[in-house]
Amino acid sequence: MSDSVKLSYNDQTFDFPLVEGTENEKGIDIKTLRAATGLITYDPGFKNTGSCKSGVTFLDGEEGVLRYRGYSIEDLCEKSSFIDVAFLLIFGELPTKEEQELFNKEIKNDSLVDEDLKMILKSFPKSAHPMGVLSSLTSALIAFNPSSVDVDSEADMREAIIMLMAKFPILASWTHRKIKGLPLNYANLSLSYVENIAHMMFKRPNEDYTPSPVVVNAINKLLILHADHEQNCSTSTVRVVGSSHAGLFASVSAGISALWGPLHGGANQAVIEMLEAIQKDGGDTKKYMAKAKDKNDPFRLMGFGHRVYKNFDPRARIIKKAADEVLSEMGINDPILDIAKGLEQEALSDPYFIDRKLYPNVDFYSGIIYRALGIPTEMFTVMFALGRLPGWIAQWLEMRKNNEPIGRPRQIYTGHTRRSL
Ligand code: ACO
Repeated sequence: MSDSVKLSYNDQTFDFPLVEGTENEKGIDIKTLRAATGLITYDPGFKNTGSCKSGVTFLDGEEGVLRYRGYSIEDLCEKSSFIDVAFLLIFGELPTKEEQELFNKEIKNDSLVDEDLKMILKSFPKSAHPMGVLSSLTSALIAFNPSSVDVDSEADMREAIIMLMAKFPILASWTHRKIKGLPLNYANLSLSYVENIAHMMFKRPNEDYTPSPVVVNAINKLLILHADHEQNCSTSTVRVVGSSHAGLFASVSAGISALWGPLHGGANQAVIEMLEAIQKDGGDTKKYMAKAKDKNDPFRLMGFGHRVYKNFDPRARIIKKAADEVLSEMGINDPILDIAKGLEQEALSDPYFIDRKLYPNVDFYSGIIYRALGIPTEMFTVMFALGRLPGWIAQWLEMRKNNEPIGRPRQIYTGHTRRSL
């Protein structure tokens, strides 16, 4: 098999080397393309562009495979805690007992934010979307922790990572407490990372709160499933922002903004709003299927389709099962789940969806679980961000350690040619 690709242009032939990954994915290395030929590639949405080499996450969209550092998402969801998965993503291996204890201890030691951050939070209206607030507060962390990170120093980078892992859940839960009008609180150091997320979000000032195992298990699974997804929109954003040597907090803050959009992480909120609208409108799923297929109607079936999964999203399978478990364990009969299942059934046998390989994605069922846990709809994407944090960190760290060049695509200019005033 050839280890290069030939390109013919203007009666000349150019040779470009192939790059190959450990799972036999092949790409054409076009780093010298422009210098050799004067051409650039044109690939809106980067559908065929490999922006980096990465050893963090492998996914095979055709086979529905998702692995973090070689471990299947199914095994990790079954056997691991979110914080161990975070360690795995960031540092490359599952932690030993000592590493696990140290990581947890370091995070707990850093589980405070400057009290002045509360003033920033206070200045937002209650109606502010929590993703905007979370992005702003994450950015504000830079002002309160200004020392820059020397990326040649393992110790410096570790410190920044610990700080973010420790402080981010506090900020996320504060966005929730702001909506609910609850006083701001901190972690309870006797609880685990995921228990603390539940504790910080739901603890009321006048009641004891012990997070139920059902809630903790569900959040654990959801966070693991969202923890990384190779070069998606928000992760690419984190890497590109970091490539300018902006710091970790600034890069993650940008990632939060990218995640917010309804075509990315915001889809979980959009799914529930869509299901509620269908329910309010009499529950006629066929009507909405027809709208989704109508090219003159901008409506899309939210929670369906994925840029890379073209047979099924393995996360959706796990989530669907978890949604059934959580709802039955909590004794909740949510009519919205029936509408969701009805839509899925119809879509799976509809030629429009089959031909375009549109299947439920991770967000189709995650919102149903969040709803059952009592998390408000506008907080769903914040929950996604909590899960995605270790992935963003791992990808940022890899980008910095590889000393990747600044991300700066080119363009095909289509505006006016020179004109006079
Ligand atoms: N409902 C109806 N039609 C759809 C949908 C949908 N949800 N998704 C794609 N299509 C159609 C498009 O109209 C297009 O049809 P055409 O070929 O006749 O023009 C075709 O399927 C291909 O769609 P693209 O938008 O080109 O696919 P792309 O890979 O660019 O987009 C995306 C993927 C953004 C996820 C898209 O499927 C979508 O908008 N889905 C709904 C939003 C959503 O659920 N996002 C969450 C993604 S998962 C995540 O971020 C965690």
